[in-house]
Amino acid sequence: MKISVIGCGYLGAVHASAMAELGHEVVGIDVDPAKIEALSNGRTPFFEPGLPEVLTSAMASGRLRFSTDIADAAGAAVHFVAVGTPQKKGSYAADLTYVDAAVDALLPHLSAGDLIVGKSTVPVGTAARLAAVVAASGTGAALAWNPEFLREGFAVQDTIAPDRLVYGVPAGEAGERAVAQLNEVYASAIATQTPLVVTDYATAELVKVAANAFLATKISFINAMAEIAEVSGADVTQLADAIGYDTRIGRRFLNAGVGFGGGCLPKDIRAFTARAEELGRGESVAFLKEVDSINLRRRQRVVDLTVAALDRPVYNAKVAVLGLSFKPHSDDVRDSPALDVAVQLRGLGADVVASDPQAIENSRARHPQLSYETDIETTLRGASAVVLVTEWPEFKDIDPVWAATLVETPTIVDGRNTLDAVKWRAAGWTYYGLGRP
Ligand code: UDX
Repeated sequence: MKISVIGCGYLGAVHASAMAELGHEVVGIDVDPAKIEALSNGRTPFFEPGLPEVLTSAMASGRLRFSTDIADAAGAAVHFVAVGTPQKKGSYAADLTYVDAAVDALLPHLSAGDLIVGKSTVPVGTAARLAAVVAASGTGAALAWNPEFLREGFAVQDTIAPDRLVYGVPAGEAGERAVAQLNEVYASAIATQTPLVVTDYATAELVKVAANAFLATKISFINAMAEIAEVSGADVTQLADAIGYDTRIGRRFLNAGVGFGGGCLPKDIRAFTARAEELGRGESVAFLKEVDSINLRRRQRVVDLTVAALDRPVYNAKVAVLGLSFKPHSDDVRDSPALDVAVQLRGLGADVVASDPQAIENSRARHPQLSYETDIETTLRGASAVVLVTEWPEFKDIDPVWAATLVETPTIVDGRNTLDAVKWRAAGWTYYGLGRP
């Protein structure tokens, strides 16, 4: 099948490569010449495990190419829109400028029977509005909404073998045709009985934001329990294990710590509250503001705990920050709790030295005032406190006996509850977890 993917950011680059790997003939289009040049040369503009291999193999097959010219979308039967929907400046709402521009730019290049497929996360009601734009264009093209649930760090596997497919399609014959076209795109997933939900636009749009709102709520729930554990002497990690054994609850996404970040969960719950308010149902998701507040309080807690743990004033104290990306196996620092903690500690006058296996470059571009080290030994040397904020395997594997010989004071704040507290204490460290005695 001939496919175009508009937008070669995180989502689009992965989607285009994965679709070509599945045997389709794909053109990826982006307005950023630097991005297109990198991808055309087989280089990924960001870190994502497995993507370089898939990109290289798809390029070698001749089924994948990239272009800055939207006219190159002509001839494809299915056009994925995978552009960003960032948070608007000074507001909670999603900025739809890029989605609207992508659809407008596509229209002159469409043929009758083409299908535009929205992948971007959008406020409910967007697909219906865009469908009207497509219908008014007289091109004879149709529109579907097919939300993406990929996780950074597992993006390739989540795209090639998703845990479910959701198609938001129009009613009637146009909808049936859209389902048939999408089934052809996802033939390999359909063949392996991947659960498929065929629904209307509004439901498809809401599935995505509801899923992210649920995940964010689950994390903030356990972080709220951590706050209660902190004033009652309980251990939130054992609490999470115990409630997680209940299969109705489940243990995943119950890791208390410095909270969630990244390019999706924070902005998506904010955009959801903004859209619900526009629809006159702000109260229905008012709890998401609390979810957001709990989440942001955890960053503050890590900063406060670190300052309190120091055996000297924070001003000029060397603090080693382990982790900058919003989660391991990613170089993404968008709304990263880890980077935020480093910046806040620096703001208090600490001599912050931060390390991360992948996210230093992105962090430096945003916060040049911080000191960065690639080497763990140099990062730890002479530190009055160590703060672990992203649970990279490299940090989990640090030998506490070795690390104790490097620092000035063996004090560690484990912002992800990921280290073996018993082992670290045995090596002479004063260990602080979140929501743990
Ligand atoms: C998320 C959704 O999982 C994905 O389905 C959607 O398509 C995009 O948003 P992603 O942003 O890649 O994916 O990260 P995810 O793995 O969900 O983690 C989000 C944040 O929550 C990270 O900062 C992570 O560290 C944090 N987290 C996760 C916790 O603090 N505790 C947990 O138990 C789980």
